[in-house]
Amino acid sequence: MTEKCAWVTLATNDSYCLGALVLAHSLRKVATKHNLVVLITPGVTDVMKDRLQSVFSEVITVDVLDSKDAAHLALLSRPELGITFTKIHCWTLIQYQKCVFLDADTLVFKNCDELFEREELSAAPDVGWPDCFNSGVFVFQPSNETFDALVKFAQEKGSFDGGDQGLLNQFFSGWAREDIKKHLPFAYNVCTTAFYSYLPALKQYGSDMKIMHFIGNLKPWLQKFNWSSRSVAEESHLQAPLQYWWDIFLDKVHPCLDSAMAGLAGSLSQLSIGSSEQGSAVEEHLRRQGWEAGNIDYMGADAFSNIWAKISQTLSSPPAQAPPSPPSTPAPSTPPVTQAVVPVAAPVETPVVAPPVETPVVAPPAVSATPVASTPPVETPKEVVPSVVKPVVVSPSIPEEKVPKKDEPSAVPPKAASQEAQTGAKDSKVSEDIGEETQL
Ligand code: UDP
Ligand code: GLC
Ligand code: MN
Repeated sequence: MTEKCAWVTLATNDSYCLGALVLAHSLRKVATKHNLVVLITPGVTDVMKDRLQSVFSEVITVDVLDSKDAAHLALLSRPELGITFTKIHCWTLIQYQKCVFLDADTLVFKNCDELFEREELSAAPDVGWPDCFNSGVFVFQPSNETFDALVKFAQEKGSFDGGDQGLLNQFFSGWAREDIKKHLPFAYNVCTTAFYSYLPALKQYGSDMKIMHFIGNLKPWLQKFNWSSRSVAEESHLQAPLQYWWDIFLDKVHPCLDSAMAGLAGSLSQLSIGSSEQGSAVEEHLRRQGWEAGNIDYMGADAFSNIWAKISQTLSSPPAQAPPSPPSTPAPSTPPVTQAVVPVAAPVETPVVAPPVETPVVAPPAVSATPVASTPPVETPKEVVPSVVKPVVVSPSIPEEKVPKKDEPSAVPPKAASQEAQTGAKDSKVSEDIGEETQL
């Protein structure tokens, strides 16, 4: 093949960069002959960008594209995924003739260079709704015309799930029925949900697996890991693939992490084999993510008494002293508007994550909501908030009244129901639900 080809992934913050780095190393391990490209946004720290440059052939900074479609994203139980619209920038990589997009939460086990012989848009069925393709792995042909058409389509029609998967399935709507050659075998996008939905098939075909996709919000980098024994604390069929992810992470990625990195990447840089604190770093990261997505733990760590105690502590600090360690949950700053495809009526004050579905009782304080009594939070200098570029909203939100209220049953379509089964809450049940070990 004389075409110039590339594997392409996306990471809008330093945490997803952990996945992107492991993915890139997994591709190198299987000796792919193609280029590796990562799309990043200004939310990625400079030091992380530097590390990406040492592994990827190209690191390309793109604008954030965000659907800001809180209603559909709520159906998906993934308020943070509006930003996955950024993925469609991959069509602008016209220096390549053919590309394969891989989510940053995928992991390659075997050489898959044959995928570049497929045509646009080839992808594997989604496990939740098999007449849709899953957009974590797809073959595409870069083209500025297609990119423009996708942006226009997003502006006019939006996305039925608020993320790129809904958009791409609506745009490439012939995928389900028109050409079976565009249906990739499941082995190219084995979603972790399959590990508890059809175990006999996993036993039969698991050894054919080429690419694994850690779908849902419990990503490998958020899994409990035992730093003394270097092993994943997971007793399920997911143990082996997760261990593979962590082996690559410890061998190739962890040694290159830096405390100046944001969020979990910065926290993990402080840990070494023998440490036992990874749990609290992950907990802090998730708590902060929850806060930013509007899921405030009012009765727990984010209780008013804790916030008040922190405020009091800060106010009583001697003025000459430097302020206490940077807050683990800074109030999102309002970045300057640099670009807007569609003007939005509602003010957009949270650049990276979707706006909270429920308005917090207390405004997000510029102080840590961490209980004062607990150990100080690991410093997260820039975290995922730092996007200085206002997200480009490419899809009008659906009306507010369609947002299902928390704890209130709503007309959830089958897709949403199945997607719910992919969230971390359900994922964490995996170990209880499955029995004997399968050879991968
Ligand atoms: N992504 C990102 N930043 C985010 C969320 C998502 O860079 O805050 C990118 C990343 O490449 C990720 C992909 O978008 O793999 C899709 O999101 P995710 O994998 O979390 O969705 P899932 O596959 O779990 O539905
Ligand atoms: C999916 C895909 C992911 C996509 C998300 C939002 O489940 O795995 O790649 O970004 O939905 O559409
Ligand atoms: Mn994914």
